[in-house]
Amino acid sequence: MFRSRGQGKMAKGPFLFDRRAKQVIGFVAILYTLLIIHFSNSKYGKFFNNGSKVLLPTTSHLHGINLKKFSASNGPLLNLREQLSHAFPYDPKSAIPRRIWQTWKVGAESVKFPSAFRSYQKDWTERADSDSFEYSLVPDDHIIPLLENLYGEVPLVVKAFKEMPVNILKADFLRYLLLYARGGIYSDMDTVPLKPLGAWPSLDREKFNELKRENNPIPYKNYDPKRGQLQAVDDNGGYDEPGFVIGIEADPDRHDWDDWYARRIQFCQWTIQSKPGHPVLRELILNITATTLNSVSTTKSQTQALIDLSHAKDYNVNYRDRRGLNETYPHEVAKKSSNVDGTDIMNWTGPGLFSDITLEYMNNLIKENPDALLLNGNLEASSNEPLDTKSTRKFYKKISTSLQSNNVVPWEFFSLMTKPVVVDDILVLPITSFSPDVEQMEAKSSSDEMAFVKHMFKGSWKMEADSNAGH
Ligand SMILES: *[C@@H]1O[C@H](CO)[C@@H](O)[C@H](O)[C@H]1NC(C)=O
Ligand SMILES: *[C@@H]1O[C@H](CO)[C@@H](O)[C@H](O)[C@H]1NC(C)=O
Ligand SMILES: *[C@@H]1O[C@H](CO)[C@@H](O)[C@H](O)[C@H]1NC(C)=O
Ligand SMILES: *[C@@H]1O[C@H](CO)[C@@H](O)[C@H](O)[C@H]1NC(C)=O
Repeated sequence: MFRSRGQGKMAKGPFLFDRRAKQVIGFVAILYTLLIIHFSNSKYGKFFNNGSKVLLPTTSHLHGINLKKFSASNGPLLNLREQLSHAFPYDPKSAIPRRIWQTWKVGAESVKFPSAFRSYQKDWTERADSDSFEYSLVPDDHIIPLLENLYGEVPLVVKAFKEMPVNILKADFLRYLLLYARGGIYSDMDTVPLKPLGAWPSLDREKFNELKRENNPIPYKNYDPKRGQLQAVDDNGGYDEPGFVIGIEADPDRHDWDDWYARRIQFCQWTIQSKPGHPVLRELILNITATTLNSVSTTKSQTQALIDLSHAKDYNVNYRDRRGLNETYPHEVAKKSSNVDGTDIMNWTGPGLFSDITLEYMNNLIKENPDALLLNGNLEASSNEPLDTKSTRKFYKKISTSLQSNNVVPWEFFSLMTKPVVVDDILVLPITSFSPDVEQMEAKSSSDEMAFVKHMFKGSWKMEADSNAGH
């Protein structure tokens, strides 16, 4: 009782009026930008209006495509990868947009906004204010107009979003779509920032350059040292911020890990930082759009004509996980809200797919490019360290064989890391960065210098999805 009266008072105070005015200004600014983007793209309309004829390639069979260098051809845009690259070309030299995205069912001004989130949200808006970042909280009723504006030229993406049968899939997909179109930091509503944003190694020029100075580029099979070194040095001001910044979510260093976890290394997607147009996000969006249109009831039959039929199982979420091998499993049953389960969420839009696509991108990168920069300070020997220490070094042999004989970035490269790792323009932060205080898997506390965001684990959409999935 006392609490709700307290909030009622605050809601009528000058503080909220101020915030509302800011939100209106922010919204007008977004609309304005969207209109500009819309009109500047419309000269390509003749290629894009042909949405239903656009092919959906699988991300699993790349046939020698270099994902980093891929860009749309000059002619008609024949498939979704081309459409996405064309609508949002990637500029690796650009700065990371100083912008924070959050999403919730309702805006923070609504009485329905969960009271548990008010202080978290306030932490983010105050952080944004003092670090001169833009802040946007996208409520549910803004999503479709926003996506129709941003992705007006890539209609299959909006169609897939609308057809997703449960909200948790949409919540995952939306974060990738916002970052791919506009860039910035996305962070779940149940997180709080721990440090000034300028202290993140991706934005702190000193820290990032130090990382480059202190570590020697790690060679791999296709690596050409002469070209690789060029990426590493930046004495003459040639500084580019990393394009995609992620943290470790799970790193269970125990022999029975596969009893508990689907993947030995899982990247976290409750907080992500990216430049717009980053190719990892493009591949994720392509994969999710293609999978959705071919796994849900309303479109299944219409999209059969657009897929790579020699790999039809790639498009059906019912073939992911062990059930893919189960001959009596009803693989052809369309996905609806009543039959989506935890495996679907993990492998359709969630951290499972996110981790797979990111690692596959890194492998494509070192297969197709001789000059990718690999830096991993966790592999450097520190003089008086006993051999059985919990550190990436215990996987040294496997890592170097994997890189130098097979051109594969193994999961071990990211295990037990305490210092950030660079893979070309991707910066991977240790588990402490976005998961401090979890008191497992070597995560340190939120007072550690590498801790930037704390996850409070209060996602009510997870409960909603779990009840949907019957768990
Ligand atoms: C759509 O694009 C395809 C491939 O370029 C082309 O063959 C087809 O004629 C186009 N259809 C329309 C209606 O413009
Ligand atoms: C999507 O990605 C998953 C994980 O890498 C893969 O198994 C699947 O074949 C991909 N599907 C499509 C349609 O790209
Ligand atoms: C799907 O998820 C399950 C568990 O959630 C995991 O064991 C499996 O490897 C995943 N499969 C694919 C193809 O992503
Ligand atoms: C295979 O799928 C069927 C139908 O869903 C199920 O009853 C059965 O238990 C599954 N078999 C295994 C080995 O998981």
